[in-house]
Amino acid sequence: MKYSEYSVVIIGSGAAGLYSALKISQQIALPDGIILITKSKLGESNSMYAQGGIVGVIHQNKDDSVELHVKDTINAGAGLCDIDAVKDISEASDVVINDLISSDINFDEDDNGNLNFTLEAAHSVRRILHSGGDATGKNITTGLMKKVLEDETITIQENSIAVELLIDMDNNCKGVILYNELTGEHEIVYTSALVLATGGVGQVYKYTTNPECTTGDGIALAYNAGAIIQDMEFIQFHPTALALSSESKNRFLISEAVRGEGAKLINHDGKEFMASYHDKRELAPRDVVARAIFSEMKKDHASNVFLNASIIGCKKLLDRFPTISKKCRENGIDISQKPIPVAPAAHYTMGGIKSTIEGRTSIKGLYAIGEVASTGLHGANRLASNSLLECVVMAYELADYLSFANLSIPKKIDEAIRLTIEKYSSALSDDEYDIEQLKNNLKNIMWDNVGIVRTQESLKKAKEEVLKLKKEFKRDSKCLNTQEYEYRNMLTIAMLIIDSALARKESRGAHTRMDYKQSNEHALHTEVVKSTERKLVNVE
Ligand code: FAD
Ligand code: SIN
Repeated sequence: MKYSEYSVVIIGSGAAGLYSALKISQQIALPDGIILITKSKLGESNSMYAQGGIVGVIHQNKDDSVELHVKDTINAGAGLCDIDAVKDISEASDVVINDLISSDINFDEDDNGNLNFTLEAAHSVRRILHSGGDATGKNITTGLMKKVLEDETITIQENSIAVELLIDMDNNCKGVILYNELTGEHEIVYTSALVLATGGVGQVYKYTTNPECTTGDGIALAYNAGAIIQDMEFIQFHPTALALSSESKNRFLISEAVRGEGAKLINHDGKEFMASYHDKRELAPRDVVARAIFSEMKKDHASNVFLNASIIGCKKLLDRFPTISKKCRENGIDISQKPIPVAPAAHYTMGGIKSTIEGRTSIKGLYAIGEVASTGLHGANRLASNSLLECVVMAYELADYLSFANLSIPKKIDEAIRLTIEKYSSALSDDEYDIEQLKNNLKNIMWDNVGIVRTQESLKKAKEEVLKLKKEFKRDSKCLNTQEYEYRNMLTIAMLIIDSALARKESRGAHTRMDYKQSNEHALHTEVVKSTERKLVNVE
């Protein structure tokens, strides 16, 4: 098998992967260089599609403070935030956002040249920075891509999916196995710092705002390597994804910022309904709004409600939400005149690989940053626009941490690593799988049984059905192609979500159990570790 060696290997080219590559390259003279590997094209990621913006707790905003942001984040997090992580990320915001600004990432300004802050649900002040109106993710990602491409010390490898981590007998990560789609070959990359920046798991659900690449690979790889995986039951469902028909699955997002600017949710009778669910109405926490819409849809036997944005006015809609206006217009909806059909969709993974804010995990040499990680910032329910902030702060802190680390490449390959590599030289069985169909079956199971509301019965049903799918798919290590690897990982992720949701016998934040409607004041994080047996911290 072809092999290479790099001081730092970064997997994933969203905001977290790109910014970490840049900061590491700027800060550290690496003996063996840095490689950024992605299974898609550079930049194709959740980050590219982010709309609303990024939290900026920065000195330019006189109305805001770290204390206020910490309070809002903890309130939204429904009792499960890690207070130190929240404080550290909030405090780092000023330096990191200003570093982005000085790296030519431009945020929208008012007529006087001052940064323009907007409001989103559950924020007590206007603190969200945006770019190109509703193209924040695209502008951050393309801005960072430009810098990464200009940096000659960063090697880029596209179309290559990370399929297994190389872990030695002493539980150190020493590298990764890739499947290179262009050559059809497996490759080995050795390193002393393996950074997973592979994003979330949205694609395990039938309806999602996430692009195709979000199949939970990084979490599945880390789980198989024995890392601690935390809080996987907390999947955030965004309340307002464009619901043109029940067939449209990868759903375009209608940003929360549209509600922040005054848009109202209405049901099929044209009546506003949020006042009967929460005193903050459209700007209630995201889980509350998603459940309210879900219950209105059930009441009306409908597959959507509507968002009336016409209140905002034609000019402001076009200025502030050009991407959303255009997308709706392409689908025959003039949003200044007609209400937008919307429904909830899987959006964000609060849980993931347990890590510190520098990305350190329970495995030495393995780092996780961005959405793949679980630092405890989001608790049981993420506050809008905190995720891009978490991505860039973690990337920045990781670069700082690595500047003090020993980054020389391991020379010795032990028995554990040798055995892992050996599996990829073996021949594959000639079973054939219709992966598209199998993925769809899995997504339906997850949406119907492990979605916005759950019960012991629905979760057990899902577990049984996913176990059956797992049994039928006879590839647990080497697979034929990227699609098969993704499906294998999606099965692992589904089991992690189901097991964690079964263990959490309470309702909290984004996890709603119809059979345990109350929160348990002694609730802990849920941890899953693959070893000889699973360890679940039971929340009972
Ligand atoms: P991603 O941006 O998802 O990048 C992951 C990368 O890893 C991709 O390049 C992928 O191809 C690659 N990858 C995955 N697996 C592998 C593998 N096995 N091998 C190689 N490569 C791999 N958050 C906000 O804060 N504000 C917003 O306004 C906002 N709006 C959003 C709108 C939408 C439509 C969506 C979907 C999300 C939004 N979010 C928002 C959430 C936010 O965009 C994400 O949490 C964040 O961008 C995640 O960044 P990341 O770098 O961790 O992962
Ligand atoms: C949105 O624009 O509504 C998404 C913001 C987020 O997910 O943080």
